[in-house]
Amino acid sequence: MRVVRLSAFAKINLGLEVLGLRQDGYHELRTLFQTIDLHDDLVLSLRKAGIVVRCDHPLVPKGSGNIVSRAAEELARFARVGAGVEIALTKRIPVAGGLGGGSSDAAAALLGLDRLWGLGLGPSRLHPLARRLGADVPYFLMGGTVLGLGRGDEVYPLRHQLAAHVVVVDPERPVKTAAVFHHIDRSLTPRENSYTIFRFVSRDLEGEKGLSILTNDLEEATLAEAPELRETLSRIRGILVESGCSLAALSGSGSSYFGLFDGARQASLARRALRSAGFKTFASRTLSLGQYRDRLSRALGRRRT
Ligand code: C5P
Repeated sequence: MRVVRLSAFAKINLGLEVLGLRQDGYHELRTLFQTIDLHDDLVLSLRKAGIVVRCDHPLVPKGSGNIVSRAAEELARFARVGAGVEIALTKRIPVAGGLGGGSSDAAAALLGLDRLWGLGLGPSRLHPLARRLGADVPYFLMGGTVLGLGRGDEVYPLRHQLAAHVVVVDPERPVKTAAVFHHIDRSLTPRENSYTIFRFVSRDLEGEKGLSILTNDLEEATLAEAPELRETLSRIRGILVESGCSLAALSGSGSSYFGLFDGARQASLARRALRSAGFKTFASRTLSLGQYRDRLSRALGRRRT
């Protein structure tokens, strides 16, 4: 294979609990990840040697500061690959928006290069490399409705995969994740005994939805980092709630906000209301673990494993 084209899907965090600070400087998390069909695109073309990443988005770093370049370099070193690659990256997922765009691009690059370079490693053997690249990268080797523990890099799929319409709102104010976690340490007490995700997962086993109990512990820290967002996020939330969403929340460290809807009509009315209030929005749908794997397998020219 000389060219591999694949999409890198965004995630939202349905809930996120910060349990404490770890010895390695990261934070112990309990989070529910959900992939959605908003995506970036990658085209990987075989070269004789060298790793070149092209992306014309102004917020995407050039050279080895780019997580896609790092993914390719790490994999080449790990698997002692002689060949090179040119990767063209088209961004659609807001950058520094809490939607995991960079992490997803990196995971897609690992999976795509595994195919392009004929390594045959598969997601499980790519997992240690993914962890080194970033805490959210391993999740994107899996996708769907997933419980994330540890730094967020220990991932376990839920039995019930969520199916919903998602309206994503981009307040167009990039926020740095590290800065948000820094505010958690300075001004907030991490909740060591937080049970909303536990309750949600238990109810889920009984077939109840109960999404509205989920919260994001990072929201106050994000507002400490970007105080000008307080009013904006509260307006966005107000419109989503009025439109009848089953959950409205900040995704990860923000600043993207999202609403989940059971019906397409409700979601499109919400989107219209948000757009007429001047917000940039994306209409999206959840991707279950099975749907996510199907999309990737098709792109990689493989039957589902
Ligand atoms: O691993 P990643 O590069 O995506 O994380 C970005 C930053 O977010 C880290 O440098 C760290 O400051 C913070 N973080 C954290 N605890 C986590 C995940 C991320 O403190 N579980």
